[in-house]
Amino acid sequence: MTKCLVIGACGQLGTELTEGLRKKYGADKVVASDIHSSSEGSQDGPFEMLDAMDFEAIKRVVEKHEINVIYHLAAILSAKGEQNPPMAWSLNMTSLLNVLNLAKENNSIKVFWPSSIAVFGPTTPKDQTPQECIMDPNTVYGISKLAGERWCQYYHEKYGVDVRSVRYPGLIGSKTLPGGGTTDYAVDIFYKALQGETYECFLAEDCYLPMMYMDDAVKATIDIMEADPETIRVRSSYNLSAITFSPEELYEEIKKQIPEAEIIYKPDFRQKIADSWPNSIDDSNARNDWGWQYKFDIKKLVQEMLTELEPKVASI
Ligand code: SER
Repeated sequence: MTKCLVIGACGQLGTELTEGLRKKYGADKVVASDIHSSSEGSQDGPFEMLDAMDFEAIKRVVEKHEINVIYHLAAILSAKGEQNPPMAWSLNMTSLLNVLNLAKENNSIKVFWPSSIAVFGPTTPKDQTPQECIMDPNTVYGISKLAGERWCQYYHEKYGVDVRSVRYPGLIGSKTLPGGGTTDYAVDIFYKALQGETYECFLAEDCYLPMMYMDDAVKATIDIMEADPETIRVRSSYNLSAITFSPEELYEEIKKQIPEAEIIYKPDFRQKIADSWPNSIDDSNARNDWGWQYKFDIKKLVQEMLTELEPKVASI
């Protein structure tokens, strides 16, 4: 019987993953946790306030609820990490090692931990970036994700920990705002279009980045965790891909639905981060090993986002 703990359940991904897991396994089988409570994501099932930096606290929650699957999502993202590198490093690494050490003590615990396209860097091949290539991240977030990948593989090989991971592209969802990422523009733009305001984009119009609709991200996460352990041949983290677009292409797609939408471009420090990341990703390992396939193209993504956000924005 699956009993999950989601750490970072009130975040952008955590909110929707918790909902997806509760649909699949039942609300009482999924314990949401975060450092603070929120009106989203934690209302329809068990919730624990939890500091991912506190090993004993995680252990207590795991024992109390007889958890056997941990989704550890808590992290400081790329743009926010640059404001306070020591803090980002400390949170991202300590919390991961806490979870891995818990799974090392108790091998019946399976772990999911997200990596990111941020593990790549300026000299990584930009187009159809392969699973294995030069990785020279230049953000503290990217460095922590690359180090985390090595730790995941290490704990798997040395201690038999069943830890699984994907390198998410930029994630776009309607339930909760992202916080502190370089790809956040692709969510913010929808709010401004629906509010009838000009969107000031912090990336350049032709800045291509790999992106994914949240439903696909949730599906990928559940798929990899449900897969037979024998099929998981990559124990660092899998390349994962859906769509690729630039701010201008996303804007043009939104304009088809909201013709009066306006955008201006004022790239800031996040442009440099985006420039160091791939344009597109080769995810053939994920496709071959555990049958990954995305569903949402840019057209469907824009339709879903506008439909979901319209009532929300109207009530603000
Ligand atoms: N979306 C993340 C960020 O922009 C990348 O994983 O930081």
